[in-house]
Amino acid sequence: MAEDVIHITGGKPLHGEVTVQGAKNSALPLMAAAILCDGISVLENVPRLTDVCAACRILNRIGCTAQMQGHTVTADGSGVSSAEIPDSDMRKMRSSIMFLGPLLGRMGECTLTMPGGCELGPRPIDLHLDAMQRMGAKITETDGKIVCRAAKLKGTNLTLAYPSVGVTENVLMAAVLADGDTILTGAAREPEIADLASFLNACGAKIQGAGESIVRIQGVKKLYGTTYRVMPDRIAAMTLLCAGASAGGTICVREARTQDLESCLAALEQTGCRIGRCSERIYLDAGTNLKPIRCLRTLPYPAFPTDAQALLTAVLCRAKGTSLLEETIFESRFKHVGELLRMGAEIRVSGRTAVICGGNPLHGTEVEAMDLRGGAALAVAALQAEGTTVIRGLQHLDRGYEDFAETFHSLGAAAKRLSFS
Ligand code: UD1
Repeated sequence: MAEDVIHITGGKPLHGEVTVQGAKNSALPLMAAAILCDGISVLENVPRLTDVCAACRILNRIGCTAQMQGHTVTADGSGVSSAEIPDSDMRKMRSSIMFLGPLLGRMGECTLTMPGGCELGPRPIDLHLDAMQRMGAKITETDGKIVCRAAKLKGTNLTLAYPSVGVTENVLMAAVLADGDTILTGAAREPEIADLASFLNACGAKIQGAGESIVRIQGVKKLYGTTYRVMPDRIAAMTLLCAGASAGGTICVREARTQDLESCLAALEQTGCRIGRCSERIYLDAGTNLKPIRCLRTLPYPAFPTDAQALLTAVLCRAKGTSLLEETIFESRFKHVGELLRMGAEIRVSGRTAVICGGNPLHGTEVEAMDLRGGAALAVAALQAEGTTVIRGLQHLDRGYEDFAETFHSLGAAAKRLSFS
């Protein structure tokens, strides 16, 4: 069966303004959190993505009637009746683990299977299960199914060995309906966690300190549905800025929150791009020559995000000289490098470090997206390449970007998606 592909012909500077989509990594936990609410949650500014469809399907399967119209998801938590996430859904969306906390909190039970090994390497869930156990859940494993039960979760003092985003979100969602107070130390500080807490607080939860390392959650008896607007997607905003840096030109990304993107903007400034910060608008002027970055490491927020590592690698192919990027969060996050080499890039990967010798012109060829951000990086690279790049493997891009090629096209790129369905 023929698959969709994106064609990008490089060499055209980008110009113009574009509005960034709502955040995938906020929309997904918010949808899971709707399970905790009696009544209807209305989530606005939800991006239209295959991962969002997968989350809607899981909600419907467990009795939390959910539908998406335009960019609004409506989910009714009143009818939640099942606590089992089928294996097929666990495999389709790796982040389905975020249903664990809300199902335990609401139903006192959650049955799931291991999320399959993913594009970024193994995706262990040990820290999720450990946190739920410490809140009183009993965990058993039979025939590949993991069953977590707790008639009533109990608030407790928890310290995370590593500031995992997903575990922090699961603890918040498990603790809001637990008996007593939970104090979470060593929490992840990503902006999506503060967004989740704002939503839960608007539903009646009592969470203080989300977005900081110590979060205090006072358990309440009930939560009620509300209307909430999902925050803008900081990684989609970084993707657009990297597109501008790679292609050259001057662009403006609207509805991007400057404060969430500081480490990304600082990295782009190091390459010599000029950045203008206005309230909810970011301007980028790529100038003529980019400079290499001597050494940059991915780390938990507020440091440089792992989700932007591949994107910056593509930009640095244009910067004359040697750059070094170190990946400390995920094991296998250099799969885009092999494809960039096919485009003429000079990059050496050794363990967790990529050394990019930039400045050689890239050329268009056929490449395959191996994961979401790696796929976006290939498109960013294609904008600086001579000739046409054909990008396959769009199922990865569709998980996280709405109208990817159209958005690049609206900024003047010669980018189009060819559909064969
Ligand atoms: C989230 C984001 C993802 C981003 C990542 C890091 C969503 C839907 N996804 O993923 O885009 O790249 O944060 O910013 O929000 N780990 C364990 N055991 C566990 C859980 C995690 O060892 O039980 C490890 C992971 O393998 C990884 C590291 O901790 O090496 C960070 O993972 P985590 O912060 O949990 O990322 P996610 O929440 O999965």
